[in-house]
Amino acid sequence: MTDEVTSPPAPERTVTGVSITLDGVVKRYRGQDVPAVERLDLEIEAGDIVAFVGPSGCGKTTTLKMINRLIEPSEGRILIGGRDVTNEHPDKLRQSIGYVIQSGGLFPHWTVAKNVGAIPRVLGWDRKRIAERTEYLLDLVGLDPATFADRLPKDMSGGQQQRVGVARALAADPPVLLMDEPFGAVDPITRVRLQDSLIAIQHELGKTIVIVTHDFEEATKLGDKVLILSEGGHIEQYARPEEILTSPATPFVQEFVGSGAKLAYLTVQRVRDVECDAVVTARIGEPSRTVIDRAKAAGQSWVVVVDEAGRPRSWPTLDEVGSKPEVSDYLDRRLPVIARSSTLNDALDAMLAASQGAALVTDGRGAVVGSLSIGSVTETIQTKLADVRSEEPELSYETYVDGTDPAPTPVVAAEDEPGTPGDEPGTSQGEPGAQAEVS
Ligand SMILES: Nc1ncnc2c1ncn2[C@@H]1O[C@H](COP(=O)(O)OP(=O)(O)O)[C@@H](O)[C@H]1O
Ligand SMILES: [Mg+2]
Repeated sequence: MTDEVTSPPAPERTVTGVSITLDGVVKRYRGQDVPAVERLDLEIEAGDIVAFVGPSGCGKTTTLKMINRLIEPSEGRILIGGRDVTNEHPDKLRQSIGYVIQSGGLFPHWTVAKNVGAIPRVLGWDRKRIAERTEYLLDLVGLDPATFADRLPKDMSGGQQQRVGVARALAADPPVLLMDEPFGAVDPITRVRLQDSLIAIQHELGKTIVIVTHDFEEATKLGDKVLILSEGGHIEQYARPEEILTSPATPFVQEFVGSGAKLAYLTVQRVRDVECDAVVTARIGEPSRTVIDRAKAAGQSWVVVVDEAGRPRSWPTLDEVGSKPEVSDYLDRRLPVIARSSTLNDALDAMLAASQGAALVTDGRGAVVGSLSIGSVTETIQTKLADVRSEEPELSYETYVDGTDPAPTPVVAAEDEPGTPGDEPGTSQGEPGAQAEVS
């Protein structure tokens, strides 16, 4: 019977990434009595983007760099794709982990092509393979290879340099990509473009990406999950963005996400203010075949079974419909149903509890008028929050942070030391004569 069912509208997601596990990881820097990271247990799923966010000095960079062992953990284990890498050779490990830092961290006297090919050359790829890979990657990150391959970083904007940084990190096709405040030094418009570009790249490649940011909005935009840390690498909350927005786990998180604006917004905003998605309805006793054809024609993989008054009774998949010759009468008592007058807060509660990740929207008489997904609510909230923040900057959690990371680290550095090319924050032009020390 499965041959009668259309594939779901959401395409299967590609996953080429692997899981990352931090098991009791501790970092004590020499000469410091308090550990920078006290004891961290964390599970990152293959193919997810996880955003680390938290106030300056809480241990985000330390944690990130322990994953590729640019910083050695004092205790604990790190597993990548289930493999304990704690005792693996760090250089070898780093070849399988892409690393992106602020301003791209490019070698200033190397052309774009030479920068992108850095790790493949170390790995001994032949020239043709490196050239093909470079062309593919520049195209992937939105740079025309013919225009940019032979340029020097100083002749490119900050955003373009950052794109090259991403291409370089992906060069050897690593399953894992680590990014430390990658978009911290570009102007806000370029930043949004780079974020969107990263989402598109991730959609295509399905890597596991860990991104450090001090911008909560960036974290919720990019992260499948967001890890909110407080001092000492202490986990305040690790959850999907919508869950953090709607159920902050601790007062710290609440303050961090600017609870006032958000919750007020969620409880003021109504379901009717958000555009619903269309649903296909079916009557009890209708031939299943007809219903399935109708749903397929509408591009839907679920149908809403309604009574004579159009009130929803169940919300089966086409598979379930196809298992019987005709639509059967079954009242699902746990059906996620919200009224158009419900607040978005209530709507999210209903959706989060439902397996469909969505809820049915009903009118004043209880008849179904459409459905609403978590995604569209989250999007509305984020749009609204961006507006709120631009009007009242103090509503954001900027009071907790002191800005950008001052010392980017070279991508292929063997040790944890600063000293890389860099341009100045906020500029979109590369700085000629960047003060780099490349050995
Ligand atoms: N190389 C180092 N030596 C000693 N202390 C360090 C070093 N790097 C970072 N720290 C300290 O460890 C803590 C966490 O730093 P870091 O991981 O850089 O935080 P974040 O990236 O969240 O701003 C801070 O208190 C910082 O001062
Ligand atoms: Mg940092």
